[in-house]
Amino acid sequence: MPRARRRDRGSRQTSRGARGPGAAVSRGAPLRWLCASELALPADPAWLTPREREWAARFRFAKRRDDYLLGRYVAKRAVVRALALPDDPAALARVDVRNKRDGAERGAPEVFVADRPAPLEISITDRAGWGVCVVRDPGARIGCDLELVEPRSAAFVEDYLTAAEASRVRAAAAEETRQLLANLFWCAKESALKVLRTGLRRDTRSVEVELLDAVGVEGWRRLSVRDQETGGELPGWWRRFGRFVLSVACDDPTAAPVCFADTPDLGAAEPSHAWMASPLTGS
Ligand SMILES: CC(C)(COP(=O)(O)OP(=O)(O)OC[C@H]1O[C@@H](n2cnc3c(N)ncnc32)[C@H](O)[C@@H]1OP(=O)(O)O)[C@@H](O)C(=O)NCCC(=O)NCCS
Repeated sequence: MPRARRRDRGSRQTSRGARGPGAAVSRGAPLRWLCASELALPADPAWLTPREREWAARFRFAKRRDDYLLGRYVAKRAVVRALALPDDPAALARVDVRNKRDGAERGAPEVFVADRPAPLEISITDRAGWGVCVVRDPGARIGCDLELVEPRSAAFVEDYLTAAEASRVRAAAAEETRQLLANLFWCAKESALKVLRTGLRRDTRSVEVELLDAVGVEGWRRLSVRDQETGGELPGWWRRFGRFVLSVACDDPTAAPVCFADTPDLGAAEPSHAWMASPLTGS
């Protein structure tokens, strides 16, 4: 993991609402989310656009290609649900999930349907063979992140968390809670830095996470991420799902995320690393 560096000043500008094909996601609609396992990726690439196929073929490392494909797969399937389009290879192949290539927002996802901007905002994340896409109405920004609840070193806590966050981790009585908090703080920071469009180009300690509800309770819990550079607050949500923790941050308050009707049970998900099983055959 690269060490986070302090650099760009984040902005809270609101993205312009995109308009395009498909039924618009209604304003004020809750965040909706979908997860998918890399084991569900179709072998037939018919679901990809020609541009995505070409892009996927350029990856030198199977892990990075598989992460890219998993992100495309879960995002397209969330987008067709949000826009009430069919979930079949032909419809998925009309959805192009691109990344901004230039400027301060480089890497941020943007969706086109039949080459026109889709009327929604998305954020994508993947971890240990599982991908998540969160969708919301246009004109607002979101960021999501999925992490494993796994051991983190004292150096990780000191280097990447703020003093207040680190102190909260150290104060937890149980090792399990310390692991949850360390990964949750990191997860919420990544979500917020996606909202700000900087990602890890900005220091993770330049945003501070506050957990607004009790930890150790089932269901979605509220959080708030303070942008230390502007004083702005990004509201969000987090939830423990078995081995994983998922967080979402926004640039305005929203109701708790709601999963699409046929979302797999992330709480029962086993972390997987399919690429490790065939390091010599994946290319
Ligand atoms: C955003 C970032 C923190 C996510 O890293 P990660 O934890 O490895 O990956 P996640 O699976 O949680 O998220 C990846 C998704 O974040 C999204 N993303 C990337 N850059 C983003 C940005 N600037 N703003 C918002 N979202 C971004 C993309 O959709 C990406 O998935 P995709 O490439 O398949 O479309 C990281 O990519 C980053 O810091 N990017 C900016 C710095 C940069 O360009 N680094 C180059 C590589 S060192």
